[in-house]
Amino acid sequence: MGSHEKQTLLVQHTKLNSSPAAGWSLARRVKYVIIVLLTASTYVLFSYGSFDAGAGSTSSLKWEPCGEVNKHKLECTRIDVPMDQFNKSASDKTFSIPLVRLLATNTSATGGKSILLNPGGPGGSGAEFIWRRGEQLNKIIGEGFHLLSFDPRGVNGSIPQASCYVSPEQREEKIFETPWEVEFEAGDMFTRAENQVKACFEVMGEHSLYINTPQTAADMNSILDAIGQEEMYYWGFSYGTTLGQTYAQLFPERVTRLIIDGVSNLDDWYNTFVDEEDLVDTDKCYSEFVRHCFEAKENCPLNSIKDVSFKTANDLQTYIDDFLEALEAEPIPVYLGAKDYGAVTRRGVATNGVFSALYKPTPMWSVLAKNLAQLLSGNATAAYQAYTDLWVTKVIADETNTFVVQNDNWKTGANAPEHGIKPLQNLTMSLPEVSKLVSKYMGSDIYARASWDLPTTHDFHPRYHPEFPRVKTAHPILVLSTTYDPVCPLISAKKAHNSFEGAGFVEQHSTGHCSVSMPSLCTAKHVQRYFYDGILPEKGATCEIDGEYFPAPGSSLEAQSQLGEDDAKLLQALQELAAIGINDVPRF
Ligand SMILES: *[C@@H]1O[C@H](CO)[C@@H](O)[C@H](O)[C@H]1NC(C)=O
Ligand SMILES: *[C@@H]1O[C@H](CO)[C@@H](O)[C@H](O)[C@H]1NC(C)=O
Ligand SMILES: *[C@@H]1O[C@H](CO)[C@@H](O)[C@H](O)[C@H]1NC(C)=O
Ligand SMILES: *[C@@H]1O[C@H](CO)[C@@H](O)[C@H](O)[C@H]1NC(C)=O
Ligand SMILES: *[C@@H]1O[C@H](CO)[C@@H](O)[C@H](O)[C@H]1NC(C)=O
Repeated sequence: MGSHEKQTLLVQHTKLNSSPAAGWSLARRVKYVIIVLLTASTYVLFSYGSFDAGAGSTSSLKWEPCGEVNKHKLECTRIDVPMDQFNKSASDKTFSIPLVRLLATNTSATGGKSILLNPGGPGGSGAEFIWRRGEQLNKIIGEGFHLLSFDPRGVNGSIPQASCYVSPEQREEKIFETPWEVEFEAGDMFTRAENQVKACFEVMGEHSLYINTPQTAADMNSILDAIGQEEMYYWGFSYGTTLGQTYAQLFPERVTRLIIDGVSNLDDWYNTFVDEEDLVDTDKCYSEFVRHCFEAKENCPLNSIKDVSFKTANDLQTYIDDFLEALEAEPIPVYLGAKDYGAVTRRGVATNGVFSALYKPTPMWSVLAKNLAQLLSGNATAAYQAYTDLWVTKVIADETNTFVVQNDNWKTGANAPEHGIKPLQNLTMSLPEVSKLVSKYMGSDIYARASWDLPTTHDFHPRYHPEFPRVKTAHPILVLSTTYDPVCPLISAKKAHNSFEGAGFVEQHSTGHCSVSMPSLCTAKHVQRYFYDGILPEKGATCEIDGEYFPAPGSSLEAQSQLGEDDAKLLQALQELAAIGINDVPRF
């Protein structure tokens, strides 16, 4: 299953500092009024009649049994949260949010606390996270804590669910047509973006304004209140670190245990038009893939391309890079029959192939190496089948991602530094190429950001040391990062660590997205000590991994067999979690 998981580059968001063009603000405002009038009437057509909850009634949840994971009982319920958490009296509309919890079996010493989990996205389903990763997370965290997750407002089982399309067919068609070539498709990008925001508002109505991270952070308090737990216990991955940091800055007094793992730069997320930090280590991850492949000898198929031999990892990388460059100029046609033909392109291989594999080395690196080896040997079939599929529509179930990414940010619409087709194209094309591998494919989101003229319904401005004093949480938070993360680089984790008073930090010496992308007993034990006893790692703590990037057959079992019973079980859970990954939806 792991090898089918994909990541997307469709939605990116980004940074640049300059003041909005003054002449535009009036035009923008006028246009906004038109949108509101237009949609205020159509909203009724699209309103969701299936829920009618008393405003913000957060009392007494009715948990129902809803299955089992790893012989542990699951319970499900729903909670109605106010549409506007920051002005509850403004409207009696709500979001209905699904909750799932896995009941631990020995909570006497911990008082039956629940750890809230968020798998990332934005747009990842927490319910699905418990269903599909609950077994491993339960084994890693142990029997002292219930695991509780939720579909954040807009996501999957949320009512309403976030959508910008009137039907799944329209959705698939529009996503398939998404332009990406900044140089030649700027006009198309611009007009699509202008229309997209109108469609999002028309389909979702007023709820669309309230799908953002600070509102979701406040929802987590509604959840805690409803289960009668004052203290926040939390583990968030990837975008879950954006949510976690936002929560910790808004409600520091409730933060008792909070782990952010695979950390996003909060300042860039909220304040910059074009994020230039998220991909700073992407190319390094790619080089690490090549280096580990080279060192794995016959366990990595790229070392046995016919008629070629490589003396160093550098030679191997140059060979692949030259091939990709040639592919840019000349895609390879693949014809499997009248129903199935297309081309292998550099974009497909670089994004769907290499970039998505960088998130999750096992088993994705072996799969990638195998497909690349065939491609480089002259057989493009496997690469075509794996890297040109229209997987995006299968993986992303709704538009929560779009809403959260744009609604959170302060540089949207009139606040964007540039407006109009040409100035935005110019800006995009003059951005530094942070990642040679994938930066060039990330243009179109800039237009979406510039066109997003919905009003902001939160008042959150992140505080980052040294501009602000460090945020003091009730108990220090714990920050986890790999050394090389393709989308949430170490530097972002260090900045987050430095912004919270007394925070702990573990650098796990590995490549991949979030600590759980490779098994590490050392990291898992830091997590356990922190959750159970509040103990932070010593300053400068690092962890090695207990696994290989290109494992020989049977090596996982062999690694377990050298350990005592408890560690062997823990390692097995970590190996499994690394293999299935934390997330079915993309980070962005
Ligand atoms: C809350 O909403 C009400 C009704 O729309 C409005 O009158 C009031 O000013 C709002 N309060 C704040 C603090 O924004
Ligand atoms: C339950 O947890 C306590 C404290 O953590 C531990 O001492 C005890 O051995 C555990 N019981 C079982 C049955 O695992
Ligand atoms: C969405 O929710 C449904 C149940 O309502 C569930 O079966 C499905 O797995 C969920 N899908 C995702 C992608 O979370
Ligand atoms: C090319 O690869 C595909 C799938 O990997 C395989 O089925 C096919 O036999 C290969 N073709 C040749 C000519 O080796
Ligand atoms: C394009 O950008 C360059 C700097 O990157 C600037 O000098 C030039 O005036 C811009 N042109 C337009 C049409 O915005």
